[in-house]
This record gives sequence, structure tokens and C-alpha cells, in this order.
Amino acid sequence: MADTPATIYLKDYTPPNCLVDQVTLDISIHAGFARVAARLAMRRNPVSAGGPLKLDGEDLQLESLSLDGQPLTASAWRLEGETLVIDEVPDAFVLETVVRIDPDQNTQLSGLYRSKDGYFTQCEAQGFRRITYYPDRPDVMAKFVCTLHADKASFPVLLANGNPVAQGDEDNGRHWATWEDPFAKPAYLFACVAAKLDMVEDYYVTTSGRRVRCAVYVEPGKLDQCDHAMAAIKKSMKWDEDVFGLEMDLDHYMIVAVGDFNMGAMENKGLNIFNTKYVLARPDTATDTDYQNIDRVVAHEYFHNWTGNRVTCRDWFQLSLKEGLTVFRDQQFGMDMHSAGVTRIQEVRGLRAAQFPEDAGPMAHPIRPASYAEINNFYTATVYEKGAEVIRMIHTLIGKQAFRRGMDLYFQRHDGQAVTCEDFISAMQDASGKDLAQFQRWYNQAGTPKLVVRSQFDAAARRYTLEVTQQFPATPYEERMTKDGLPQARGPYHLPIVIGLLDGEGRELPLRLEGETSPVGTQRVLELREAQQRFVFEDVATEPVPSLLRGFSAPVLLDYPYSTAQLTHLMAYDTDAVNRWEAGQRLATGILLEGVAAIQAGKTTNDWIPQDYITALARLLGSAFVEGGDPALVAEALNPPSENVLAEQMEVVDPDAIHGARMTLLRTLARELREAFLAAYLELASDEPYSPEGEQAGRRALRNACLSYLAQLDEAGAQALVVGHFEQAGNMTDTFAALASLASLDIPARHVALDSFYSKWRDEALVVDKWLQVQALSRLPGTTADVRALMTHPAFDIRNPNKVYALVRAFCAANPKHFHGADGEGYRLAADVILQLDPMNPQVASRIARCFDRWRKFDPARQALARQQLERIRAASSLSADVAEVVGKALE
Ligand code: ARG
Ligand code: ZN
Repeated sequence: MADTPATIYLKDYTPPNCLVDQVTLDISIHAGFARVAARLAMRRNPVSAGGPLKLDGEDLQLESLSLDGQPLTASAWRLEGETLVIDEVPDAFVLETVVRIDPDQNTQLSGLYRSKDGYFTQCEAQGFRRITYYPDRPDVMAKFVCTLHADKASFPVLLANGNPVAQGDEDNGRHWATWEDPFAKPAYLFACVAAKLDMVEDYYVTTSGRRVRCAVYVEPGKLDQCDHAMAAIKKSMKWDEDVFGLEMDLDHYMIVAVGDFNMGAMENKGLNIFNTKYVLARPDTATDTDYQNIDRVVAHEYFHNWTGNRVTCRDWFQLSLKEGLTVFRDQQFGMDMHSAGVTRIQEVRGLRAAQFPEDAGPMAHPIRPASYAEINNFYTATVYEKGAEVIRMIHTLIGKQAFRRGMDLYFQRHDGQAVTCEDFISAMQDASGKDLAQFQRWYNQAGTPKLVVRSQFDAAARRYTLEVTQQFPATPYEERMTKDGLPQARGPYHLPIVIGLLDGEGRELPLRLEGETSPVGTQRVLELREAQQRFVFEDVATEPVPSLLRGFSAPVLLDYPYSTAQLTHLMAYDTDAVNRWEAGQRLATGILLEGVAAIQAGKTTNDWIPQDYITALARLLGSAFVEGGDPALVAEALNPPSENVLAEQMEVVDPDAIHGARMTLLRTLARELREAFLAAYLELASDEPYSPEGEQAGRRALRNACLSYLAQLDEAGAQALVVGHFEQAGNMTDTFAALASLASLDIPARHVALDSFYSKWRDEALVVDKWLQVQALSRLPGTTADVRALMTHPAFDIRNPNKVYALVRAFCAANPKHFHGADGEGYRLAADVILQLDPMNPQVASRIARCFDRWRKFDPARQALARQQLERIRAASSLSADVAEVVGKALE
């Protein structure tokens, strides 16, 4: 059995004992190896306690080592594990090392690695130590100069952070280039590239007149897929100036796309490296969603230049300092660029699909965990998405202007520093005057709080009272911390509840709280601080319908006993788009859970679907076509909660009954509203030239939602419509929508479509990913076996993260009916992949392992099957810390 990985604690943080002022790197790439010479100008850290110099290293072969020009004798240094230790160093010194590394064999994709067109780096969180010996921690910030050498014909492009300062040719057809980054940075922001790439460039002039060269580098032949990413760079630069007054600070801003990449993208200073998935797009290869994701990821990485790079994290426990804040910023950007309501709805959907289950499972952690075994396991929905929700709550509590002042103060105080989450909160508190001490619980407590809200209407006193109780039960995280001797106190959260009250006609009531002399608007931010708190509204003539938690103002579970009539009312009249959508989701959830119960009771009828609901959806669909209607919002509202989100609502998950109920609902709606769906489908047809932008994409989303309903009809006519849609599609959004429907239909046209799609796109890697994904998500029986078979198809490559995510993770995370199949084959498939992948790429293996998180929520038979696979993984002879931590916590 694998060793339990060692735990690292936030409480053990100590400042580095040596600092680095200047790094001079010389990286020489050869077939089969690379040689890295590093010259570090270092000095003792005056605020540290002293002690030996320790430099991190991983998979390095040390060739030489000298201090102040003198080779170090054998007794002057040693390796502790892979850490290079030198006991005696002067107050200031120059350390020089030469190491040999093997980027061609670097299948982890961390450090310097080979991908198809050349060599690329990924150093966050701890990849730089795989390039050279270094104090690889974010609070050591240094200026970097980097020279690269490589074969000129094979790797004509040589890039690193900052500005190009010199270049030239050398013997044997090789060349070199030197780059210098004027800003001190932590090693995790280092990047270099030696590759054969095409490049497109453009200029952006900042407010203060800096002319920034923006460049996008892609695999040869893909320049026709770069326009959108380039436009996104310029939009992001403009937005950050307009909204936060933040300008680009370098003369070069480069994005390099690489097909082998563990995550989405990386904000290396001036040289972002991106997964191709978030760069390449052409109307016939990328969907509307892909285009939007590109906008968001480009913006996210660009925004990191200030929130992450100029001000970085003191240690990795503070990861949410940069990630939560930067996600918040890319979300605000998204809301400004696209429909604000739809953008927010999609975020709430994502939070419920990924973060809530994480917070309810064995890996639950606060946005700033107090311990971890493997930092790569903490690039999570909690640190990112819940982290963004926490920032959003500050924004809601103190208001937009104070938030901006807080940001200004944060940069004024901390530019060029590596800081903590407290530093950010302090800036917000000082700029706003709002006491945020209690608010900090969001950084320390795990789990999704639940708000139980009850209302009381006193007609005689014309008074409406909301009583709010918070529940915040401990999670496995707190239990573990207690076992480790670090008991974590828990207490009520400080959070904003944004509300409105609607009267019987759907009008918003002016809101006067107890103690106020006159009403203040029709929407209020209620501040909850206590475990139990009441809010009293005066002058309320008739019992209103409360619109609670507008805009999803806090990441909580809301328990309010809404009646069907109240929800239908909110669906029709709420001025808040999120709550209109939310009312529909609540209605659907209630109905679907009844359906689940009916199926479990052996019923095969659909009489649990109320006619009122069908009528409400018909009205909703119609609302897209009236003046001011929003088709994109309607498309969101037509999509009931996913099977995974429904599963979270059940004590013991029954994946077959959930799937059965959801499918019955979709089919019933398709039958009952056939004419309306068909009419909408026809009405929304368009022959405009393709644009991924707002309105057109919204109409396409609704049209494709109608198509997917119609595809549920077991009728030749409807199936022909889907096939026609596939054949006539003028863009990937439409093609993909039809293909996704066809993938779940057991008709000959399915195979014809899948085959023609593959033969057309077999050389376009990102499109092949889509082909794998639709098959992984198929509802048809036999899907698990099909996924297993696809793993041996030439289109699949287990070493490529995108392929693993498209086929295996899509199956495990988003096809619950089959992943949780009663025969245990889904679990076995996942375990097989994890075991095969772990020695090659632990980060990706660990992400697949997370699919087991919720195993204890299932019936005893499924639990036994899942446990068997988890134990089989745990028993593997040498497991990475990544997988060992996830599996260990799952079995804890
Ligand atoms: N900082 C990057 C981003 O959010 C993510 C990089 C994470 N990489 C990793 N290997 N864990 O944009
Ligand atoms: Zn980020």
C-alpha cells in the first residue's frame, strides 16, 4: 500500500531564510535532454530565524554546484530527499548550479515538457523545481533573465517572460535568445517556450500611452483560429482600465497555445501559456460556449497580471487570494460582455454542480484550507468558484464604489509583495469602514451553510417578518483538523441576503424596515450576522411573495417553504433574472423528486407532472418571442436541474430513478409542447452570417434547446429533424447540438453522424474531443463498454489531458446513470484509468479520482462496488501524493 502523503499546515509557515534578487537562467534544449545553468544572486532574509539554505528540486540531475565562483566540496552540501541543502552560506552570495533534465520524458506536464510542436513550461504551483534547484515558494520574488538555446529549424520560436534583449545563431544549426523580465516575480510565474509556432500580433495602446504588442502563438496552420482570442485580449485590457484603473505594465503580452496542458491556462508574467481549448476557435470548429469560455479564460489570465502577479500569494494556502479574486473579476467581465442574467445563472449552475458537492464530500475545505497533502489537489471549485462568491459578497456588502477603493488601497499597500487573504480583507475593511472580522469565517470554515427562512404576515399590523436561521454543521475537514490537534471553532457567517417583495399583481413593494421612517427602494441588502435574525417590513398591505437571495447573493442552500403558486408567480414576475430562473428550477426539482419517489414505488405513469407546470413552461417559451424577450434566458429556464444536482437533494441517491424521472419529464414536455417547440424551432432559424455574440448565440441556444426536446419524441419525423439539423448546420454550435442528441438515439443515423463527424474532423484535436465527449455522455445502454472501447481508438491518447477529460472525466462526472451503473463497470473503468494514468500524470489521475467523492451517498450495493475500486487504487504499490490524498480522504 502507498504511504500516506505528509500533511503541510498553514500554521507552520515561516518566512524564507534566503531571498533571491536575480536569477540568470541558461536553458539549452537537446534531443533527449536539456541542460539548465542557473545563477542565483542570493542573500539572507533579515526577518528569518536563519538556518541552512534549502533549495527545492525534483527529477534533476546535478552536474555542478558552486558558491561565489568556488565549486562546493562534497562535505559542504547534501541532498535531503530531493532538497539541496547547504549548511553554511554568507550573508550575500552567488550560487551557480548546472542540472540535466529530461523534458521529453516529462509526462506530468509540470516543469519543462515536450508537446507536439516543441517545449513548454508549467510552473504553478511547484513546477519550477523540476527545471532547476530553487527556493520554489511564492514569497521568494526575483528578477529573471533567461537565455534559451535550441535547434533553429525545429524550434524557431524562443520565448520567455518580459522583453527580448538579444538573439543569435550558433553552431550546428542552433540558435539562442535572451529575455529579461523587469518585474520581480515568484518562480511559479516563470515560463519559456521553444517551439515551431505561427504567430499573429496586434497592438493595444493603454490610457497612459504604452504601446503593448499582443501576440498569439499557435501550432502551424491554425492562424485562422486566433481572431477571437486576440479580440478577447484587447477587450480585457480595456475593461481592466475602465473598471479597475489597471493598465498593462509590459511591452509584450504573449499567449502561447499548447495541446498538452493539465489545466485551462497559466498567467506567467507576459507569457501566458494556454490550453488550445481556450484559444482556438473558428465558427465551424468551436461552439458558442467555446467562444464564451475563450473570452473568460483570456480575461482571467490577463486579470491575473495585477491580481496574482503584481500582488501575489505569500504561500499556497492563500491561493484563493488570487484565484477567487480573479474569477470574480472575470465573472464581472463576463456579465459586462454578455447577458448579465444568463452569465450569472450559468455560474450558479456551475457552483451547484461542482462546488456544493465538493463542500458536502470528503474533500470539503474552506477557500483557504489550513492543511493539504498535495497543493495541486486544491485548485478546486471551492478555492476558485466559492472564492469568487466570497469576493462577490464583499462587493455586495460594501458596494461597488467602496470595493473599487478597496482594490486601489490593496494595490497601494501591496504592489510587488506576496501577501495573505487577511491583507486583502483589511484593505476592503479600511476602504469601506465595514467591520469584516466576522466575515473572515468564510476563509476558515468548510461546508455550504443553509439558511432556513420562515415568514410571518400580520395583516392587522401590516407587518411582514422574515426569520432567518443559519445552519453550518461541521464537515469531515473540521473532524480531520480536530484529530490533528487543530480544532477549528465554528460560528455564524456574515452574509448579504438581497431581497425584494412582490405583491399579488407581481409588482415590487417599496421596502421600509422596522425603525426606518420611509421606504428605501424595492430591493434591499439584508445583512445576516447572527445564527438567528429577524427582518421586519412595515406597511405591507397584503401577504407578499418574497424574492430571496436575488442574484444568488450568497453561496448557501436556501430553505423556504415556497408553494407552487408562489414559484409560478416568481417565474412570471420577479425582476431578478436569477430568481425567475431559480423559481423554475425549484418547481422542477420538487416535481422531479416526486417522480423519483413514484418510480421507486414501481409506478410507470407520469401523473406526477402537474399540468400547471407544463402550462408555465409553455408561457415561458412564448415569452422569448414578445418584445424584450430574452431567448438565452428562456433556454436556461427550459433546462431542468441536472441529474447530479438532483442527486444532492436525496438522502440515498438512486441514479436510475433520477435518470428515469428526468427523462420522463423531458419526454412529457416534448409531447405536450411539441407544436410550440417546433414553431419556436422554425421561427428561430436564421441565415445571418455566424457570430458568437450575445443575441445570435441566445437565439441559437433556445433553438437548440427546442431541438433537444423534440429529439426526445420517439417519432421518425422528429428524428429526421435532428438529422437535418446536423446535416445542414452552418456552424459547430448547431452541429454539436444535433450530434449530442443523436448520440443518445438508438437509430442508424446515430452511427452515420458520428462516423461522418469523425472522418471530417479527425485532424482537428479539439473537435475530436467533442466527438469523444458526446459518446461519453450518451444515455444509451452499453455506454460504459463504448467508453472502454473508445479508450483503444486511435482518437484517444491517455497522455493528453484534454482527451482524458473529454472521454473519461465527462463519463465519470457527467453521466451518472452509467458511471454509477449497478454492475460497477463504471467504477472499474475509472479505477483502471486512474491506476494507468497515475504514474504518468498524477494531476490528471487525481482529477478523475475526485469522481468518487460522493460514493457514500449511494445504496449499500453501490457503496461496496465503489469501495472495492477505491481500495484497489489505494493498494497500488506507488501512488502519487495527488491520488493518495483524494482516495485516502474518500475512504477516511
Ligand atoms: N493559475 C492558473 C489559473 O487559474 C491555474 C494553474 C494551475 N496549475 C496547476 N498545475 N495546478 O489560471
Ligand atoms: Zn487563475
